[in-house]
Amino acid sequence: MDRQLKIGERIAQKSILQGGMGIGISLGNLAGAVAKCGGVGMISAAQIGFREPDFDENTEEANVRAMHQEYEKARQTAPKGVIGFNIMVAMRHYERYVREAVQAGADLIVSGAGLPMDLPALTENAKTALAPIVSSERSARLILKYWDRKYHRLPDLLVIEGPLAGGHLGFSAEQLIEYMQEKKKNFDEEVKRILDTVKEFAEKAQKYIPVALAGGIGSREQADHAFHLGVDAIQVATRFVTTEECDADIRYKRTYLQAQEKDIVITKSPVGMPGRAILNPFLKKIQNGEQIRPEKCHGCLKHCKPAEIPYCITDALIHAAKGEVDEALLFCGAEAWEAQKIQTVEEVVRELLGEE
Ligand SMILES: Cc1cc2nc3c(=O)[nH]c(=O)nc-3n(C[C@H](O)[C@H](O)[C@H](O)COP(=O)(O)O)c2cc1C
Repeated sequence: MDRQLKIGERIAQKSILQGGMGIGISLGNLAGAVAKCGGVGMISAAQIGFREPDFDENTEEANVRAMHQEYEKARQTAPKGVIGFNIMVAMRHYERYVREAVQAGADLIVSGAGLPMDLPALTENAKTALAPIVSSERSARLILKYWDRKYHRLPDLLVIEGPLAGGHLGFSAEQLIEYMQEKKKNFDEEVKRILDTVKEFAEKAQKYIPVALAGGIGSREQADHAFHLGVDAIQVATRFVTTEECDADIRYKRTYLQAQEKDIVITKSPVGMPGRAILNPFLKKIQNGEQIRPEKCHGCLKHCKPAEIPYCITDALIHAAKGEVDEALLFCGAEAWEAQKIQTVEEVVRELLGEE
């Protein structure tokens, strides 16, 4: 099967995007490896400067510095590959990070955890392709209509993130549980509605808008199912965690290998958003009502109230990236427990798409 993916002015040889994973899970190493394989490599900008010596005092500058370093690293691995940044709308200094991504030369910005309503204004005249993440037809229509009316432009790619994805999720905890218990009809119908809406806007503008589907795609069958629904590409994150090239510590990767299906739970992040993670000693403490007061606020999320939260999400995710897994929030997708061994990025891409 020969399926290229056009993203703005770039062409990815393979119709797969690696989902951005913060903090520190998808950096230059993983993104570069995916781009080198012909897919789209995504660097997560979320608190990316956590390893910089001045991260605590000078978080924004440390993050910006690390964005450029990680981009360069990925670019060296894949000089002609498609490399982008995942930048969450909910991040404080979102606007600055978007501008820095453009300046670094990113081919693509994927933006979720809120709708990136004003992303076109922040990237005016830039060649960087723009991709919002949506989880419903309602939010797809909202962003398409708003960008069309206000900016006379449409996304260069739309990412649909379903209920089986990892990290923060665009569904209520109740919806997620219903999906998991199959009380609610599966997500396919929503995907088809979103595809219809995208087509409606694209036809009006005489443009083609590629769509990627994310969430729970970990096998060839699941990938084929996504393509049969009519999407142009798949976005995969969890499967890339257990790769040699993934930027996370080996102890974090091992938690995926050891996890069983029952260990994967829905939790509420400190800012109230539901997310999916592995039930580890840290999460058990939080579920039992323990509070872990942060020593210092890193100013990560716009709507966080440090005095009211049970724990600091930046601290918990940095523990994860560093492999301090018992103190960490271990984000993962619903299929994380299926990982059996550490593989290379190339092997994972081949397994998902076959020989192309
Ligand atoms: C460990 C982890 C961290 C993630 N972090 C982010 C993030 O920082 N920003 C974001 O938009 N999505 C994030 N995601 C979601 C992924 O980009 C992706 O869309 C989703 O997990 C795809 O589903 P899959 O993991 O089942 O393949 C994260 C996912 C995982 C597993």
